[in-house]
Amino acid sequence: CGIVAYVGKKQAHPIVIKGLKRLEYRGYDSAGIALLNGDLNVYKKKGKVSDLEAFIEEKNLSSTIGIGHTRWATHGEPNDENAHPHFSGSGRLALIHNGIIENYSSLKQELENKGHQFVSETDSEVLIHFIEDIRENNDCSLEEAVRLALTKVVGAYAIVIMSKDDPDMLIAARKGSPLVIGLGQDEFFLASDATPIVEYTNEVVYVNDYEIAIIKDGNLKIKNTQDVPTTPYIQTLDMELEAIEKGGYEHFMLKEIFEQPKSIADCMRGRLNASTGHLVLGGIREYANKLEGAERIIMIACGTSWHAALVAEYIFEELCRIPVEVEYASEFRYRNPVINEGDVVVAISQSGETADTLAAMELAKSKGAIIFGVCNVVGSSIARVSHEGAYTHAGPEIGVASTKAFTAQLTVLTMIALRVAHRKGSITERKYHELLVELEQIPSKVEESLKLNDKVVEISDIFKEARNFLYLGRGYNFPVALEGALKLKEISYIHAEGYPAAEMKHGPIALIDEEMPVVFIATRDSSYDKIVSNIQEVKARKGRVIAIVTKGDVLIPKMADFVIEVPAAHEALMPMVAVIPLQLLSYHIAVMRGCNVDQPRNLAKSVTVE
Ligand code: G6P
Repeated sequence: CGIVAYVGKKQAHPIVIKGLKRLEYRGYDSAGIALLNGDLNVYKKKGKVSDLEAFIEEKNLSSTIGIGHTRWATHGEPNDENAHPHFSGSGRLALIHNGIIENYSSLKQELENKGHQFVSETDSEVLIHFIEDIRENNDCSLEEAVRLALTKVVGAYAIVIMSKDDPDMLIAARKGSPLVIGLGQDEFFLASDATPIVEYTNEVVYVNDYEIAIIKDGNLKIKNTQDVPTTPYIQTLDMELEAIEKGGYEHFMLKEIFEQPKSIADCMRGRLNASTGHLVLGGIREYANKLEGAERIIMIACGTSWHAALVAEYIFEELCRIPVEVEYASEFRYRNPVINEGDVVVAISQSGETADTLAAMELAKSKGAIIFGVCNVVGSSIARVSHEGAYTHAGPEIGVASTKAFTAQLTVLTMIALRVAHRKGSITERKYHELLVELEQIPSKVEESLKLNDKVVEISDIFKEARNFLYLGRGYNFPVALEGALKLKEISYIHAEGYPAAEMKHGPIALIDEEMPVVFIATRDSSYDKIVSNIQEVKARKGRVIAIVTKGDVLIPKMADFVIEVPAAHEALMPMVAVIPLQLLSYHIAVMRGCNVDQPRNLAKSVTVE
């Protein structure tokens, strides 16, 4: 979910609505806004922020304070009632909430016994009733009631509350879900991330877990849930407005795909220089020796970031000779994983806020592991929980389907592996330099791959009605197959499966007939001959083969129905090049099918719930 709030001298509603649109990638089931003009009015609507905007057109919107929310449903289906903001029992308080209150059903029961009535099925409505109940029973300030309530709440939250009785006050708090406060001239902006704030101010305060922020009469005060005041740490945002706008592209996803030569280069800037052999990651210093001496590396991630971890597994094992295990964060955290001394954890996340990844890191930390974070969002929770790490510096990624974050993650992970391997001496000096040169050339190879766009459009047109797709690859290209399939599923809703090409004969081969498109990632590498045999196996069963091959390949074009030629690259780096046509394929198919590419159904960009 995304939350936005404003208090200052300007009209709040245009700022809140615009902010919600910027945050819409975090959830878009329903949206709502609360404004104060004598009355505390809440307007909310199932659907997109634009539906809310149309709904409130005729209303009295004048107010210099406002809170807004765009939802990704957890408790209760997406409808008008379950949308935020939620009122307290008296209707004098309104709340927006991102996260989950785990003990909400017992709190709800207690409150119902006292006569509270609820209009929604959400945990969030329970929270604001609970706060009001505490305030009435203890005859205390709202600030104190919020604090007391939060000491009794189990779960994750970022909340903002406004009150009919205090037209210049917002109270916000965070635990486990992100919250940023922008400081303007006599005005404050609150949001789940900095994107709604950047056009107004670049001075921000990231609220920490267990902190409560009270903005009243133009002043910001922060304290923790133990009632101890803390000094707000003001940071300067490093984000440009154009980075969060579409800049002439039809969709954010397409813009982000085409940004990759730049985002990969940005990721290496100042860190790598092949001609001098320089490779330094400023964020990994004190614990660098832990990484080099690691007996095992455990990589934790979800979604596309998990695929980046899989590629990294191959790279680290090959170059550093350290065993790597790649874990779904959600699985890792719910068993009793073995973490030994000598194990290090690498957590990978674009948003830096994925709840499962964060919780898995905390578990590993509690067992004594040293944790390195690979994140895109500066100042995010995962970045803060890590001991050390490296940012991917890909710039804001707004399209829900991850593209440039993936290639930037691979760039960072490769740099880390090369540095470790070089320092450990597990690769030769020659190979190290060769790979540095290769890595430096990746942006131009990605640029070349992007020129395949027209060809991919043609192929997309032929396969846009397909009901299933199979993606196959081996070695470094196996995770690329998984990622290609995930992209297609996410945005076009076509069922797609990624598989190691050799495993196909143990199951998926049964699916192959003349209807089944099979995408092979079959670039020239150490498993080339083997994958050629797999292509033949598919052709023998009349499957329709689309092959991603290395430029100049003469063999595969004779077998495949369609061929996409990408520039040659070192096999360890090929995933960054080979994934480009797959990103484009999913994009064009989705557009041709009339899907909402940037906001696919049911998904959200940043999953801050478990
Ligand atoms: C969501 C997004 C995916 C993303 C995954 C992990 O499911 O839709 O695109 O890969 O979360 O997110 P993270 O921010 O941790 O990389």
